[in-house]
Amino acid sequence: MVDLWLKDAKIVPENRIISIGIEDGRIVSLKKIAPKREENINLRESVVLPGLIDAHVHFRDPGLTYKENFRTGTMAAAAGGFTTVIDMPNTIPPTNTVKAFKEKLKIADHKSLVDYSLHAGVGNLKEIESLFKLKPASFKLFMDLLDDAVLDEIFREIGKLNRENQKPLISLHCEDKDTVTISTQKLQSKGRYKPEKYADARPPHAETIAVSNALKLARKYKLAIHICHVSVKESLQLINEAKESGVNVTNEITPHHLFLDIKYLRKYGNLAKTNPPLRDPENKITLDLLNGVDIIGTDHAPHTITEKMEQNIWKAPPGIPNLETALPLFLTQINRRRITFAHLKTLLCENPASIFHLEGKGFIKEGMDADFVVVDMKEEGVINPDKFKSKAKYSPFKGISVKGMPVMTMVGGNLVADEGEILKNKGKYI
Ligand code: DOR
Ligand code: ZN
Repeated sequence: MVDLWLKDAKIVPENRIISIGIEDGRIVSLKKIAPKREENINLRESVVLPGLIDAHVHFRDPGLTYKENFRTGTMAAAAGGFTTVIDMPNTIPPTNTVKAFKEKLKIADHKSLVDYSLHAGVGNLKEIESLFKLKPASFKLFMDLLDDAVLDEIFREIGKLNRENQKPLISLHCEDKDTVTISTQKLQSKGRYKPEKYADARPPHAETIAVSNALKLARKYKLAIHICHVSVKESLQLINEAKESGVNVTNEITPHHLFLDIKYLRKYGNLAKTNPPLRDPENKITLDLLNGVDIIGTDHAPHTITEKMEQNIWKAPPGIPNLETALPLFLTQINRRRITFAHLKTLLCENPASIFHLEGKGFIKEGMDADFVVVDMKEEGVINPDKFKSKAKYSPFKGISVKGMPVMTMVGGNLVADEGEILKNKGKYI
């Protein structure tokens, strides 16, 4: 006898109806028919996906918890169908010391409703080796904040790590510091305050220059790199050419860079401000490029509405909360036959699990963690930020019609979201 059966689940893309047996938080059995009289949840042939993995969230904990914390952030994750998240290091203090890393693990252990990993930052080079032993998902570097010489030094240092048991990975925010600084100063000195000017302050070539530099460094130090939130078509091309020539590189895109463009900066002003910025239709990435994409990360970057709206475009903080918009937006595209379930699983489950070495994640198979999201492909609605579990109740996707919604999320065999209700759970570090 097992702990629980998920009875009559539809597995996609096969469209097979199966029952999933769960014991001690793991999948132990996949059967055509669930045994009678054993505990079950009847899914009545709803589609079940492996729990989604978001390799790019900013939970602001510690230090900026007025924006979000590990509890509210993971409530948003559960509501959006995400069962594993990887938190970014730009908190206060930054997660770039052993002390800060352990502190954040403690916070997450207390507050997280879903499973989690952490990206480490890099401060003092001497701390890299001891941080690496705590098994961060990656070292995250913000190229818009670092000079080329410093970047080179960090790569060199990470390149020296002992790679026998564990391979280091560097995640990169690719925007060239000099280009961004110069373009921003130019616009500011001319007194430009229209929100769409923000896109000119961080132009497409700021990204492609940084991507080229990152690829050079990966080659030079024979290191694996992951390029976060690619926003420009040409960057994808550069990355995929490098990949073909043997560079160990993966890429990520966000829902906002895919589905929105510069028009939304005009429409929503600071609420649509994000780094890298939304792009013009000519440069932006589009659905037809999805075959060259490795993962979708939401870059869930919550701020308060006050700090977003009560300052000008240059001073308002960049970032969009996205954990509760991503899945409905992609399910809508599946309903429109623009993408497939198979592809969605690759981008939001399988590839993030393999890139960040998340054992037990990403697949519905015997032996894997019992992490699922059940979706209703017929449910229609509009994106409504008032309903977000995140503290950040704003979205440039507001009012967009969607068809296809997450209705139930399970982490390690425990229900954590059920028809909009969030239930208690203790996420684990993986
Ligand atoms: O828009 C952004 N927001 N881009 C980043 O790189 C940082 C993030 C944040 O932390 O708010
Ligand atoms: Zn980010």
